[in-house]
Formats: sequence, structure tokens, C-alpha cells
Amino acid sequence: MPQDKLIIFDTTLRDGEQAPGIALTPDEKLTIARQLARLQVDVIEAGFAAASDGDFYGVSQIAKLVKGPVIASLARCTPDDIDRAYDAVRHAERHRIHVFQSTSPIHMERMLRKTPAEVMQSIIESVRRARRYTDDVEFSPQDATRSDPDFMIATCQAAVREGATTINIPDTVGFATPQDYVGLLSRVYDEVLGGRDDVIVSTHCHNDLGLAVANSLTAIHAGARQIEGAINGIGERAGNTSTEEVIMAVTTRQDHFGVEVGANTAEIVPTSRLVSRLTGYPIQFNKAVVGRNAFAHESGIHQHGVLRDRETYEIMDPESVGATSQIVLGKHSGRAGFADALAKLGIVLEDDQFNEAFVAFKEMADRKVEINEQELRAIIRHGSRRVPDAIRMVSMRVRGGTDVEPTATVVVTRGEGSETEEFTGTGGGMVDATFAALKRASGLDPHLLDYRVVPVTSGADAMAEVNVVIQIDGMSRSGRAISTDVVEGSGHAFVEALNRVLNAGAGTPA
Ligand code: KIV
Ligand code: ZN
Repeated sequence: MPQDKLIIFDTTLRDGEQAPGIALTPDEKLTIARQLARLQVDVIEAGFAAASDGDFYGVSQIAKLVKGPVIASLARCTPDDIDRAYDAVRHAERHRIHVFQSTSPIHMERMLRKTPAEVMQSIIESVRRARRYTDDVEFSPQDATRSDPDFMIATCQAAVREGATTINIPDTVGFATPQDYVGLLSRVYDEVLGGRDDVIVSTHCHNDLGLAVANSLTAIHAGARQIEGAINGIGERAGNTSTEEVIMAVTTRQDHFGVEVGANTAEIVPTSRLVSRLTGYPIQFNKAVVGRNAFAHESGIHQHGVLRDRETYEIMDPESVGATSQIVLGKHSGRAGFADALAKLGIVLEDDQFNEAFVAFKEMADRKVEINEQELRAIIRHGSRRVPDAIRMVSMRVRGGTDVEPTATVVVTRGEGSETEEFTGTGGGMVDATFAALKRASGLDPHLLDYRVVPVTSGADAMAEVNVVIQIDGMSRSGRAISTDVVEGSGHAFVEALNRVLNAGAGTPA
């Protein structure tokens, strides 16, 4: 019988960070890793150490400073990757090297240009090498669900012979159905482990068909005792299994899954919001567990039921996942009231972040009578995003209407202490005109990859969160801002994205 404990392996900082437009700094990664440790996940895949010097630094910082979870780094089947992975994780209290190699015909023939025999040899040598460094080695046959099952299983058997302690079966392209996946994992459990209880079978599912969480959970019935996921389900393409959904599914339906997780569920919502804030990826309103509607009841019948007994329509207690509510501030609220509200929300800010957030709150309170919890969180999310200003929008004015060509004029400074300058642009609407003016101001001509305005609350004076993703020279960067004025917020979000491009030294001047 497999153990009763389900290992939660979180890859927000590796696979999650591979999502388009996400580029976390090493400090941001460290902040997320510390929060994942508070959430008490078992393993943090901190990155792919060999991918770049920045990745290496990010992984080693986390290995040195984050206590509790096992710290893992991904590595291809090459000596350099494995050496680099070990070098990055070796400072951790407990560390893991996660070795992967593709085993599907399409990956081996088209991508790797290796024969199955060569692939097998590379796996044997790599797991052997990793095992010389640590006794915690994970092996993943990439694209396992499109591989010849016999060959894929043979590679896992070889990895176990060489000392791999976790065998992870990736549904790399999100192709499997729950039946496929449970069938494959049952074979792995029987044929690779063959009764051993010192090797763990793990899942790693992508969400291309929206089945990632279902596939991962079903595999528990086939003996899987590790699930890999990312917070908010972020990751390549449609993303990964959502870590928080897995934690709450096995906690809420312990009767069904019969396994336990060690996670501190009250840290789920704070973790989800932190990841959303630092990655710039908004959380879908109706996202299970962490969406803003996950515990909202709209219809009268539902509200009536919940008032009588919460469990009439709620299978999870909002407090058990760290969701709280009912905080309202106004323009008369001072620093103490503001600090008290943050404390109630479990938000801890450094002094300078607090000051910045307080200024942003006061500005917003001048425009809005009441500021509630969601708006407060939006202010904090925005206030503590620190992107150095290569360009700063000091003010703006727009002209538009049914008979006027939309025109925007922005007043900017370009660099610390520089004089203000004015730039004008026109466009199909006022937002378009603002972006045109800002392109002129920055000297860049990026492609607008994504533009979204999300109201934080309802009402004509609603605060909206604007998300912009731009692309230039193959690099995509996001920007985000909040405002009660959509055009102004769009301008600030665009400037933030431009600054990220300028700070990265990319971009061909227009
Ligand atoms: O999806 C995948 O195959 C992966 C592996 C590297 C584990 O992320
Ligand atoms: Zn993956």
C-alpha cells in the first residue's frame, strides 16, 4: 500500500514562470518561495538553474534562505545541467535534482534528434550523475502520455535502478483523459515500483483540455503520492494543475481520496494573491477556491440559505483558505486605520512600501467615498510593484467624443531629474491615442499583445485594474495599474510595461 501522505510539489517558480509575459526578478521569486514555505508545500521547484545566470541566482537564493520545503532545480540530461542544478540547490536544508528527458517519438525524432537507445543512455548517465550529488533525485519522461508506454516505463525502470527516488509522469501537452492517465500511472506503479515503498510516483499535468486537476487527482487512485502544480494554475500555455485546488480537493474530500496533505490551507488565498500581484496574471473571478466569487452568493435563495447555515451552499469554510471580508476605509481613515486594515488582511509591508501604499490609498480615497477590501488589495498590489522609472507619466489629457478625432497628450519625464516633455498621439479611441503618445515618448513601437480592464468592484465610480502585455523583439512584458479612470489607468499600465522593456535593455527605437 502506498503511504497516506500526498506530497505537494509546487512548480510556480519554474513551470509557472514559463507562462508568457511572466518575468520574476530573483527578489520576487524569493518572496513567493517564502510564502510557499508558509503555505507548507513539501517541495518548491525554485527554477531551472542552468537556464541563465539569473535563474541560477534565483534558485540559489531560495536554497540559502527558505527553510522548510525541499528545494528542487530542474535539469536536462546533460552533465552541465546537473552540475549547475546541484550547485544552486546544495545550500538548502534538503534539496532535490529533477532530471527530465523526452521519451515520445515526436520529441525524440524532431526535437532531440536522438534514437531511443541514445535517450535511454542519457537518462542512465544523468540519474547516475545526479545521484552522486544527492539521494533525492526525481526523473520525468517528458511527454510521457504520448510516448510508447513500454519504452517510457523502461526509462523509468532504468532511472530507478540508477537511484531515482521519484518518478514523475508528465502529461506535457495536456493530452490525457482521466482514464488514460490513471491507466498509465497504474502501470508505472506496478511495473516500475514493483512493491517498493521507497520510490514515489508523481503527476505533472498540463491544462490544455482543462483536465489537469482532474487527471492529477484521479492518479491518486493509481498510487500516485506526489502531485505537481502551480499556484493559480499558471504555466506553459493553458497552465498547470492548480496547487491550491489539489490541496482543497484532498482536504475537503478526504473521505474519497484517503490521503493527507501537510499544507496550511489558511495561507492559500494570500499565496494566490501574491502570485497574481507579482506575475501580473489576474485571477479568474470564478476560479475554484481563490476566485473572488468562490464564496460569493448572488441569488436570494442562496443568500437566504447561507445566512441560515453556511453549509447549505458552501462546501469549504472561506476562513479555512484565508479568505476574509468586510473591511471598509474612507478618506478620513488615517495611517493607523490603514495599518489596522492591512493587519486584518494579513498583509505585511516594509516601511517604504507602507508609505507608498498609504499615499496611493489617500489619492484613491479622494476620488471614491468608500474603499473596500478588494479595492484595498488592488491598491497594495499596485503600490508595491516596483519598476524603476525609465519613463514616468506626470500627467495626461485626452480629447474625444463622437465628432472629434481621439487625441491624447502625455507629459513625461525620461530619466531621473530630467525636464518634463509633452508628446501627442491620435488613435481609434482615447486609450489607443494614449498608447500612441506613450510610444512616441518612449521611442519604442511595441506590439500590444493583451489589454484587459477588470473592474475591482461595481458602480460608476468603480476602481478598475488595467493589465497590458506588450511584445517587442520577441520579449513580452506586462504592466498593471489601478484607477477610477480607465484611460489614465491604461496609460500607467502601458508605462509600466514600457519600463520593464527599457529596464531589460530590449526594444528597437521606433
Ligand atoms: O511538462 C513537462 O513535461 C515538464 C517537465 C520538464 C517535467 O514541465
Ligand atoms: Zn510542465
